[in-house]
Amino acid sequence: MATIKDVAAEAGVSVGTVSKVLRQVNVKEKNYKKVMDAIEKLDYRMNAYAQVLRTSRTFTIAIIVPDLTNPFFCALVCYVEQILGAIGYRLLLCNSQYNEGREKHYIEMVRQNMVDGLIALSYANLEEYEKIDFPFVSIDRNFGNHVTCVSCDNEAGGRLAAKVLLEKGCRKPVYLHNGVRSGDIRKRWTGFKSVFDEAGINVKRINFGNETTLTNTRIHLIGEELERLVSSDAFDFDGIFTSSDVVALVVKKKLEQLGFAIPEEVQLIGYDGLREMNIGDYYVSTIVQPVKNIAMACVENLLNQIDKKPYQKRIRLSVSFGDGGTTK
Ligand code: RIB
Repeated sequence: MATIKDVAAEAGVSVGTVSKVLRQVNVKEKNYKKVMDAIEKLDYRMNAYAQVLRTSRTFTIAIIVPDLTNPFFCALVCYVEQILGAIGYRLLLCNSQYNEGREKHYIEMVRQNMVDGLIALSYANLEEYEKIDFPFVSIDRNFGNHVTCVSCDNEAGGRLAAKVLLEKGCRKPVYLHNGVRSGDIRKRWTGFKSVFDEAGINVKRINFGNETTLTNTRIHLIGEELERLVSSDAFDFDGIFTSSDVVALVVKKKLEQLGFAIPEEVQLIGYDGLREMNIGDYYVSTIVQPVKNIAMACVENLLNQIDKKPYQKRIRLSVSFGDGGTTK
């Protein structure tokens, strides 16, 4: 494989001149042409590692997400990867599975300049995130004024879910939340509650467990809780809003197993906007997060940080309602 020295010999110029051309530093037009002709003739491929040494850039971004078995995180990673790939960047994926040690390891990799920047959607209470002083974009979590936070407008999403259920006749609403999610998504509840408070309607909230993941080991918790409520005649709700579509799907299945007709007896709204194969019908009626726009906002903001250009610290994107058949 041709080296930078071979290119210099073929072009009749110094290695330094070839290096300048590769780093897009201005050189004399005739030398530029000689180098480019030599690169083409020798089919020279730049050594990525050598590129890092020359440009102090890896053209690689790391992303941390909690759980790729959740379709929302899959869609987010797919969009980020597509957007980066289109501009010549690579993506290093950390599927943390809520393992704080793994998250710390990836943060350290960025700190050691093994990648150019980090995008993270994390619920971990890691002080490492608070101390980050390199290009970093947080999704759904505000780590302080020094860190960019990108999210959908969670409070508006909660308000929208309540307005839809209210308009569709619900008078006994409940918010079902999985885990003790930290961050901006707690505003889904505050938005939801505010609308029913304004309408003078009592609204309840049920939190499933204290973990932050809906793994197989926890899905049964939701089912057990619903069974307990129904068997003790404590399930007296006609409108359910859940913290995500994944929770909504589990709730829908269990309530139908328990004999409830959805949406005739109980209406149900999830959150995220999950669709069959990401393009089909919504799985449930839902508050749709603009995942592609979230990905675009993260990449654009991070690259501005890397290029030392001006960038926003707080980006909040609009949500919408998607009818997935679990509301009237
Ligand atoms: O379903 C995953 C949820 O976790 C989404 O609502 C997303 O906002 C993240 O917070």
